[in-house]
Amino acid sequence: MDILGIETSCDETAVAVVRDGTVVLSNLLISQVALHHRYGGVVPELASRHHLEVIVQLTRDSLVEAGIAQEELDGIAVTAGPGLIGALAIGVAFGKSLAYVLNRPLVGVNHLEGHLLSILLDDQKIEPPFIALIASGGHTNLYRVEAIGAYHLLGRTRDDAAGEAFDKAAKLLGLGYPGGPVIDRLAAGGNAERIRFPRGMTGRSGYDFSFSGLKTALARHLDRHGPPTPEMLPHLAASYQAAIVDVLVEKALQAADEQGLADVVVAGGVAANRALRQQLQEAGGARGCRIHLPSPRYCTDNGAMIAAAGYHRLCLGLRSGTERNRIDLSLGPVLEGAGDFFTDGLRAAG
Ligand code: KG4
Ligand code: ZN
Repeated sequence: MDILGIETSCDETAVAVVRDGTVVLSNLLISQVALHHRYGGVVPELASRHHLEVIVQLTRDSLVEAGIAQEELDGIAVTAGPGLIGALAIGVAFGKSLAYVLNRPLVGVNHLEGHLLSILLDDQKIEPPFIALIASGGHTNLYRVEAIGAYHLLGRTRDDAAGEAFDKAAKLLGLGYPGGPVIDRLAAGGNAERIRFPRGMTGRSGYDFSFSGLKTALARHLDRHGPPTPEMLPHLAASYQAAIVDVLVEKALQAADEQGLADVVVAGGVAANRALRQQLQEAGGARGCRIHLPSPRYCTDNGAMIAAAGYHRLCLGLRSGTERNRIDLSLGPVLEGAGDFFTDGLRAAG
């Protein structure tokens, strides 16, 4: 089954074709980073307009790269939420139109389920049950995955997401947006033990996270010491990054341990972080866990993960309607089958 995956939830327009939920035939993306850079964050109105400008041509290009005609598609999967409503609406309206014209099934995909199932791309194999940590710009959620489509939320951040902690630090340091990749790069040349930043909510039971205190600690450090010198900047980046990485690694492995599961998936934009990947493999290996990481290009937002999740939703018999002619800005009822998955992340099934 060849599924077209469309992702427009934030500042990336992404369209991919994926066969049978795993073989990536094409995976194209137009980033709006340059557009939003000067504002230090994503401007929703600009994001929507840009999605609208590029989505048709990007879809054509993605089909050409996949080497298939649009009539050969077996279904259309589109991110239905969570995300910026105006940005989502562009992808959903386009996906609905395409599904209508081609007379193919449409399926709304939860963005977080897309991140979670990105682990299945490129023929990676994992059998539930397993632990999954999704760490992105908007979410830090820890799940026990019973089956594809059955996700039990163990814990989540009580304030900032892990990616947001990277982004806010970069803003404080005048490094632009997004912060993760630049801090990752700087940290590689720094000593992570130079400054001790707080590790929120560690050393106790429970699976919730908190990262806002870390950002405050950095702001206080900058108040006290002034902006870092060029020699100090890598040490500051490495020390700050280590605080985030330590927490994510500890909570994910604690969950595996307490839930009696050996397999741990870590996905979402922050899972592209090199220090996190390395520390997970080392600490996981030492504690008898198998760590599963999507390749970095599938960690950050992409269309392939949406196509993969859409494939599995279609296999479960889920469809979304294209037939309603009422304009419904909530998108929820329009994307029937996205059902409960629409508003609030993944839910426990059953
Ligand atoms: O999953 P994603 O592309 O979009 C959301 O769903 O939010 O994640 C974006 C987040 C941003 O906060 C970005 O700073 C972070 O992922 N990120 C990273 C890295 N690459 C992206 N964080 C740490 N290290 C990276 N290499
Ligand atoms: Zn994402």
